[in-house]
Amino acid sequence: MRQTISFSFALLILATLWPSNAAVEYVATNRAESTAGGIRFNNEIGLEFSRQTLITATDFIWKLFQQNTEADRKSVAKVSLFIDPIDGVAYTSNNEIHVSANYVGNYSGDVKTEIVGVLYHEDTHVWQWNGNGQANGGLIEGIADFVRLRANYAPSHWVQPGEGDRWDQGYDVTARFLDYCTSLKSGFVAELNAKMRDGYSDSFFVDLLGKTVDQLWNDYKAKYAR
Ligand SMILES: *[C@@H]1O[C@H](CO)[C@@H](O)[C@H](O)[C@H]1NC(C)=O
Repeated sequence: MRQTISFSFALLILATLWPSNAAVEYVATNRAESTAGGIRFNNEIGLEFSRQTLITATDFIWKLFQQNTEADRKSVAKVSLFIDPIDGVAYTSNNEIHVSANYVGNYSGDVKTEIVGVLYHEDTHVWQWNGNGQANGGLIEGIADFVRLRANYAPSHWVQPGEGDRWDQGYDVTARFLDYCTSLKSGFVAELNAKMRDGYSDSFFVDLLGKTVDQLWNDYKAKYAR
């Protein structure tokens, strides 16, 4: 009995000290159940699987961003997922993730893996700093795809390393560039994201890597030129 009590007490202390995802509520709703895509979503992916995927994604994001304490993280009480009868792929605003049932319905191939990748991208938008609204939109999308890349959910239709016209083109192009920056300094994206808590400047690249972002983009393009 005494052992049980001290064991429970140890667990309680652990649970209190361990910054936890358990404090975040995750809710998933399919509002497209009467559409072909909504039906395919239920058959091949499912709400509970998606909810669990978001919980796993959040842990992955905190780790990648090196946010080991609650004080480092954005304060979010609830993350909602909606499967909606909309076009496009997905979007996130106010900690609500909206996934297109039409996209699910029309996707050819392994739609479950594709949507897991989409959920990692969208969940990043919930947790990443946006420079108080000042950050470059291409960089925001690039960081979300960088998370997807590092989680091993980069789809085959992405550009290859070295492709693209501008560092802030966004999405896969910027994600590949951020991967290059990380090869120069491990934890680069975590540090960049942390600097984006209160504002944004391209000079963050100089602070972290000693070169302007344009110089880094030129170096990156030169590395893959042939
Ligand atoms: C495919 O996309 C179109 C346009 O968004 C939509 O009207 C249609 O219902 C989708 N098909 C499926 C099977 O979901």
